[in-house]
Amino acid sequence: MPDGATSPSLLFSQYRLRGVTFPNRIVIAPMQMYMSGPDGIATDWHFQHLGKYAVGGAGTVMTEALMVDPIGRNTYGDLGIWSDAHVAPLARIARFVQSCGSLAAAQLHHCGPKASRQRPWEGLGPLGEAEAARGEPPWQPVSSTATPTVDGWHRPHRLTPAEIADLVRAYGAGAGRAAEAGFDVLDIHAAHGYLLHSFLSPVNNDRDDRYGGDFAGRTRIVLEIAEELRLHWPEDKPLFFRLSCVDWRADLDTRNDGWKIEDSIALARELSARGVDVIDCSSGGIRAPNSGMDYIYKRQPVKKGHQVPYADAIRREAGVPTMAVGAIVDGPQAERILQEGKADLICIGRQALYDPHWPLHAARELGIDPKWEKWPPSYGWWLELRDRVGLAD
Ligand SMILES: Cc1cc2nc3c(=O)[nH]c(=O)nc-3n(C[C@H](O)[C@H](O)[C@H](O)COP(=O)(O)O)c2cc1C
Repeated sequence: MPDGATSPSLLFSQYRLRGVTFPNRIVIAPMQMYMSGPDGIATDWHFQHLGKYAVGGAGTVMTEALMVDPIGRNTYGDLGIWSDAHVAPLARIARFVQSCGSLAAAQLHHCGPKASRQRPWEGLGPLGEAEAARGEPPWQPVSSTATPTVDGWHRPHRLTPAEIADLVRAYGAGAGRAAEAGFDVLDIHAAHGYLLHSFLSPVNNDRDDRYGGDFAGRTRIVLEIAEELRLHWPEDKPLFFRLSCVDWRADLDTRNDGWKIEDSIALARELSARGVDVIDCSSGGIRAPNSGMDYIYKRQPVKKGHQVPYADAIRREAGVPTMAVGAIVDGPQAERILQEGKADLICIGRQALYDPHWPLHAARELGIDPKWEKWPPSYGWWLELRDRVGLAD
């Protein structure tokens, strides 16, 4: 396992936050699999899916989004952390990841206005009669607003202040269960047009109570959640927040030009003051059908590392550590981002789906493991032999 302790590479150097040492700077991105049942319990699918990234040398392996309330599920296949029954299967995953020398991270989430929809391979649209006929009826999502996220989608219920207080408590309970399951790191998904982003962005938030209006009103729920999390998540363990650092919705930005990088910088400072350690820097997704990626792809050519400037700006301007994510594809690119001081951690999503051994391959690209020593010994001895004697025809 790359521990990078003596390596000149930053990607393979350790990183310390609170009482936790990250073995290297690579974090496997949260990636929903939609492979659970309606109970949201992690199965052997999730065990092997996450376990293989630890075998592949990632310093940190993050679970997909774990829903703090069943109403917040994207689909009937989402994972949950809304009940004590979720803890044991997640703990099994965390234990295995840690046994490989990696850190186990959990992401807490609520899909808000984008809940109650089809799995991606079924179309990602709102659940309807066809799904109801096969036992997956739609439910009414909740949001900051009663406006559907996209025309023709379910009309959400606008959360009342009392319901917001329940939701804040649900995040705290989720954090407590993640701690009980033994996770080392916690990440809160406040991006991509889901519930928390629906409060942050003036594109979506049309409230006139204390949870809407100006920056202080729109960020109130997120700051209350951060405070609640720190009551349930151990003091010596790091807490991350994933933000959509900009909205990318100029066409919808009728108020305040949408959520801007200046807002993210200001929020990062407020979150940091409440015990948040890292801003996980994504973008887009507000009032868009998908996570935002499809939308961004249509609006701008996605270059490698297209979201790195947000991680850079927040790190520089707010003085808060950041994680860069999005189209980071190879070791030299990841190493450069760190060397240039643009982020502290590197998050790898789709490239890891394609290549679960991405960290070990990146190490070789950077010349750190020419002898296969960083690989699990049961693979490394064979790969060494393969190099010496070659493969049979
Ligand atoms: C299959 C898939 C599922 C995803 N699920 C989540 C998720 O559960 N939570 C989240 O914050 N982002 C999710 N994302 C976004 C990724 O975490 C990541 O931000 C995005 O894929 C960009 O990084 P990449 O270019 O390295 O893939 C998902 C992406 C993919 C491809």
